[in-house]
Amino acid sequence: MLVTMSDDRRQHWEQVHGTKPVDGVSWWQEPDDVWLDLVEDLGLANGARVADVGCGASMLVDALVDAGRYRVVGVDIAESAIERVRDRVGEHPALRLVAADVRTLRLPEPVDAWHDRAVFHFLVSEADRAAYRDSLAACLGPGGHAVVATFAADGPESCSGLPVQRYDGEALVAALGFAPADAVRIERRVHRTPWGSEQPFTVVVVRRPSS
Ligand SMILES: C[S@@+](CC[C@H](N)C(=O)[O-])C[C@H]1O[C@@H](n2cnc3c(N)ncnc32)[C@H](O)[C@@H]1O
Repeated sequence: MLVTMSDDRRQHWEQVHGTKPVDGVSWWQEPDDVWLDLVEDLGLANGARVADVGCGASMLVDALVDAGRYRVVGVDIAESAIERVRDRVGEHPALRLVAADVRTLRLPEPVDAWHDRAVFHFLVSEADRAAYRDSLAACLGPGGHAVVATFAADGPESCSGLPVQRYDGEALVAALGFAPADAVRIERRVHRTPWGSEQPFTVVVVRRPSS
């Protein structure tokens, strides 16, 4: 049987989500600590579509659903992560969960916001980043926003045993395929892991031009 890079990735993440407690991974945020403000600050209209790509078992999906204003799509390469979210939130008319690789993701309808916390930085080859940009271009509607958080230039060099690409704000905007003028927010945030160490992140918000 042919084993592809995508299968390797999937197996890695299935194993992580299938064996570790949700709060036993470095990227875990308690429900009150999720970076919901990054989406809320976009000021989206009621009923806006928001995709959280590489959602894992994060509580952000729950928070977005609880906000009551969004149609949420949670996407993860690992079915075991999707199952954890489904077990918590249950069937909900405002939530769709999709097991898919972000590098080949296509959604039936464009989203108004694309959220990615700690996924893009795992794409360390230019081919993978190009595939991600294609997915982003295919899924984000004109005038839509992408909120992307990666390890900062002085952040950790790896996560979950995998190498990561670290970014400052300008480099991240460019790597996502956007012009400097498309950036509406660039900031540094520090995440505290469940065991108390600090991980600096670069957060960018870019807006896709309307036409
Ligand atoms: C570091 S975790 C971050 C999870 C979540 N975004 C958060 O902030 O808690 C990375 C997540 O991305 C998922 N992932 C990794 N590569 C992916 C890919 N190519 N497509 C979709 N999801 C991916 C993993 O399964 C994992 O849930």
